Amino acid sequence: MSYNNILSETQNGLTTITINRPKKLNALNKETIQELHDAFKAANEDADTKVIILTGSGEKAFVAGADISEFANFDEYNGGQLAAKGQEILFNFVENLDTPVIAAVNGFALGGGLELAMACHFRVASINAKMGLPEVSLGVIPGYGGTQRLPQLVGKGRAMEMVMTAGMIDSNQALEYGLVNHVTTEEELIPLAEKIAGKIMRNSSVAIKGAIKAINANFRDGVNGYEVEIEEFGNCFGTDDFKEGTSAFLEKRKADFPGK
Ligand code: COA
Repeated sequence: MSYNNILSETQNGLTTITINRPKKLNALNKETIQELHDAFKAANEDADTKVIILTGSGEKAFVAGADISEFANFDEYNGGQLAAKGQEILFNFVENLDTPVIAAVNGFALGGGLELAMACHFRVASINAKMGLPEVSLGVIPGYGGTQRLPQLVGKGRAMEMVMTAGMIDSNQALEYGLVNHVTTEEELIPLAEKIAGKIMRNSSVAIKGAIKAINANFRDGVNGYEVEIEEFGNCFGTDDFKEGTSAFLEKRKADFPGK
C-alpha cells in the first residue's frame, strides 16, 4: 500500500509505521489519520507482523498534535464529529489491536500526538522528547481520549495539572510519571524499541492478544476485567501455542510458537 503522509515497513516480524510530515511536525490531518488506520489494520492482519513500532520522521517531533489548520473553522457539530471519528478509527482502534504497539516518542508529542502515543500499548522516549496536552491554550479540550488515558497513566492530579497548565514535560519527568517506560538517546530510541519488540516476539502471539484484551478490560466501564481474564485464560488452553509452550518447558527446550 502506498501512502502520502506515512511510511510503513515490515522486516523480521516488525512493522515500523512512521508519520512522515516533518515540515508540519507530523501534525495529524484527516488524511494522515485515515492512512494510519489503514496501515495499523494491514499490519494487524499481516501474519508476519508480530510487533508494531510507531514513530515520527525528522528529529523534532513525534506528532505536534491534530492539524490545527484543519479544524480552526469548525462548529460544535463538526468538532464533535472530528473527535468521534478520530477516536473510532485511530485511537481506540490502536488501543484494541491484537498486535502489540510500541510508541517510540522521538520529539514533541503534543495534543493528539501525546494522545496517539497513549493509545499505543506502551511508550519509550528519546531524551529530547517533550510531552503535553496544550489544548486549553487553544480554547478546546483534548478530544482524542487524552482526558481519559492521561489520568489512567499518570494519576488524576498530574493529569489535571498537565491539562490545566497546557504545559510540556520532558522525558525524564514523563519517566517519573510512568507516562513512558524508558528514556534513551535519540540514536538509541529505535534500537531500544526494536530490542523490546524482539523480546515480545519470542512469546506466544495468541497469548499476548488475550493479555491485551484482559488488561484493556480493566479500563472499560461495565466490563468485569477478572471475568475477561478468566475467559481469555481458558481460551489459551485450546491453542497450539499453549501446547508448544508447555511441551517446550517440560522438554527443557526453547518454545517455537506457531502463533495459533
Ligand atoms: N497543526 C498544524 N500545523 C502545525 C502544528 C499543528 N498542531 N504544529 C506545528 N505545525 C506547523 C507549524 O504551523 C509550522 O508550519 P509552517 O512552517 O508552514 O508555518 C511547522 O509545523 C513548524 O512549526 P513551528 O511552530 O514553526 O515550530 P517551532 O519549533 O517554532 O514550535 C511547537 C514547535 C511544537 C512548540 C509548535 O509548533 C506548536 O506549538 N505546535 C502546536 C502544538 C499544539 O498546540 N498541539 C495541539 C493541537 S490540538
